[in-house]
Amino acid sequence: MGTIGVFDSGYGGLTILDGIRQRLPQYDYIYLGDNARTPYGTRSFDVVYEFTLQAVKKLFAMGCPLVILGCNTASAKALRSIQQQYLPEHAPDRRVLGVIRPTAEVVGQLSHTGHIGVLATEGTIKSQSYKMEIEKLYPGSTIVGQACPMWVPLVENNEFDKPGADYFVKDSLQKLMAQDPLIDTIILGCTHYPLLLNKINLYLPQGVKVIPQGQYIATSLEDYLRRHPDMNQRLTQGGTTQYFTTESATKFRECASLFLREDITAQRITLN
Ligand code: DGL
Repeated sequence: MGTIGVFDSGYGGLTILDGIRQRLPQYDYIYLGDNARTPYGTRSFDVVYEFTLQAVKKLFAMGCPLVILGCNTASAKALRSIQQQYLPEHAPDRRVLGVIRPTAEVVGQLSHTGHIGVLATEGTIKSQSYKMEIEKLYPGSTIVGQACPMWVPLVENNEFDKPGADYFVKDSLQKLMAQDPLIDTIILGCTHYPLLLNKINLYLPQGVKVIPQGQYIATSLEDYLRRHPDMNQRLTQGGTTQYFTTESATKFRECASLFLREDITAQRITLN
């Protein structure tokens, strides 16, 4: 019997956990944020893989048969290697899922022009993961990406609803739309970005839709568990969530309330 693990480089994955728990409140969850080593967005493939694998192993050791990489950067840079190289040899009965494929699946259904924009960290944009995944599912679509290096720091520093954020949000949206004015759907391909939604909506051109990921990851997970009753049976259903961070538990508790709108307690752990 086990718990669903949700991993992120920091706080951002809490937007994914929030979406999942709203749809699937009955399961037990463990959230792990690698706050001591965030951000992952500017790190190399090798380092993101190494850190992500450490987190996955820890969540397995804590009793999670299923781990969601609730981090776009980790999903883009580490998921495939974990699924194809690590799991078959070391943990064939466990599963690790990411956030890019479920987001790509839904975006093709929502876009009418087939012109899709991706806003994400530098690492996710450089990996081209969204572009490849969407083109595979919806051949003929046009995908352009824009890295938003200031958006994660704005959220992490609690500046996301302050006037200073306006400049950076407007600037990145303009740069994205300048690449392809036919874009009608934008993926928020970073877990922190939903906190900037109020600002994003202010500067979004008319008729362009924005996709925060949480709800779609939840629908996709629900579908996965329906298709995999063996995994579903291994999951406990007590409706609890435990929080772990690699940085200060007190700081995590304070910041997490921004993402979850509720008070929580957290424990500090180390990854290696
Ligand atoms: N959670 C990461 C993501 O979704 C953003 C933060 C980071 O750069 O670590 O891409």
